[in-house]
Amino acid sequence: MSLFRKKSISSLTAHPEAGEHTLKRSLSAMGLIALGIGAIIGAGLFVRTAAAAAQNAGPSVTIGFMVAALGCAFAGLCYAELSSSIPISGSAYTYSYATMGELMAWIIGWDLVLEYAVGAATVGIAWSEYLNNLLVNVLNVSAIPYQWCHSPFETSLTGVSGLVNLPALFIVSILSFLLIKGTQESALFNSLIVISKVAIVIVIIIVGWGFINPDNHATYIPAPSIFMDSQGIPHNYGGIMGILGAAGVVFFAFIGFDAVSTAAQEAKNPERDMPIGILGSLVICTILYILFAHVLTGVATVEDFRTTGKEASVSFAINKYMIGYGWLAKLVTVAILAGFSSVILVMLLGQSRVFYSMSKDGLLPAVLSKVHPTYKTPYIANLIILVLVGFFAAFIPGDIVGDMTSIGTLFAFILVCVSVIILRKTDPDLPRKFRTPFVPLVPILGIIVCAAMIYGLGWTNWLRLFAWLAIGMVIYFGYSKNHSKLK
Ligand code: ALA
Repeated sequence: MSLFRKKSISSLTAHPEAGEHTLKRSLSAMGLIALGIGAIIGAGLFVRTAAAAAQNAGPSVTIGFMVAALGCAFAGLCYAELSSSIPISGSAYTYSYATMGELMAWIIGWDLVLEYAVGAATVGIAWSEYLNNLLVNVLNVSAIPYQWCHSPFETSLTGVSGLVNLPALFIVSILSFLLIKGTQESALFNSLIVISKVAIVIVIIIVGWGFINPDNHATYIPAPSIFMDSQGIPHNYGGIMGILGAAGVVFFAFIGFDAVSTAAQEAKNPERDMPIGILGSLVICTILYILFAHVLTGVATVEDFRTTGKEASVSFAINKYMIGYGWLAKLVTVAILAGFSSVILVMLLGQSRVFYSMSKDGLLPAVLSKVHPTYKTPYIANLIILVLVGFFAAFIPGDIVGDMTSIGTLFAFILVCVSVIILRKTDPDLPRKFRTPFVPLVPILGIIVCAAMIYGLGWTNWLRLFAWLAIGMVIYFGYSKNHSKLK
């Protein structure tokens, strides 16, 4: 049945054709970990943590981080097996093409647009919040007027409506052009930022620990209730459902470790380095996140994060409560702006590589895999992605694109876990440089934890995911099925 036609693994791992459709192999294991951390620490930690505390879990957002990390660890082990046995670009999309057939591969590829493109837009919107913070609190000039840095679906505390988020659009445009110039330069730029980003998280944890107000942690897991956000959307607050909801929201903070796998075709030694890159970056970030969330919810209150501290929450908390550390708030703002840029860069990179692979397979038009003669990057894909990401960044609120990113990625993770189980059965002799331990237990646990987070994200997000997948189906049956190379 053609919907289930599969690519053979040997055709996937054979050397990609030479010429204008080949990417450079320039990344080492350390380069991959840096790429991973570059993608991981970003808006999820510096923006979504406060949102999850405000809307879902209060201080127990730390438990949400643990749940999310657990889901990522199980899925990460599955990713590592697949990326070490199918070491070419395209991430979960490529893996599922080999294991579950074309329709499922299409669904994942389409779903990954939520992860990478919509994710990049989310971080762009967060960048816009911190840019305003830079203008007001660091440069002491006036803020960008509310309507020019918010989507039409947002209203300020004083009743001003948003129109378009210009700073978010600006940053994704600049970075798209940087990316077109080449992976190698971007990786170097990325390494410098990664160091400052990790340093700033550590400093906040150490300094902030002394400013934790035990009153803020007195009710660590709030009693269950319903919280209405400013757009009138209800959220389960407190209790187990609050923790699961928070886990779904802060899951965003872990997205990116799998972006490492999309760069497999650019790794020098993919079999050895991919698992190191994926799991190494995941472990480092998990430890930092739990400590950071504990400090942040101890320093400021949930009420702050629902009102004046809703935007640029970390600088807000430092400025309001950590007296004498104004300089740290300034430093954090600058580091966060740079750090978010590196995240956006990696997500845009991941998206262009997924489109590149899908186009090489004929599921998307061939022009998307055309490589620039000098820069060796899929520049046309980058430009099309810029339009897509720019639209979301300019016109949709950060909370909505953030949760869409989470739910889309969770769904992709579930399919990755399923792939490992299937591939062990259908292709038991495939050389696997890294084997997921305790199959099928680990993939099954991955599926359960990720599904629980999807459940926690609530029906508005289920509906958005469903609508997105429905649009994907129309494109698949209208175009991709008939243009597939496998046909
Ligand atoms: N994990 C990335 C972030 O938090 C996507 O910004």
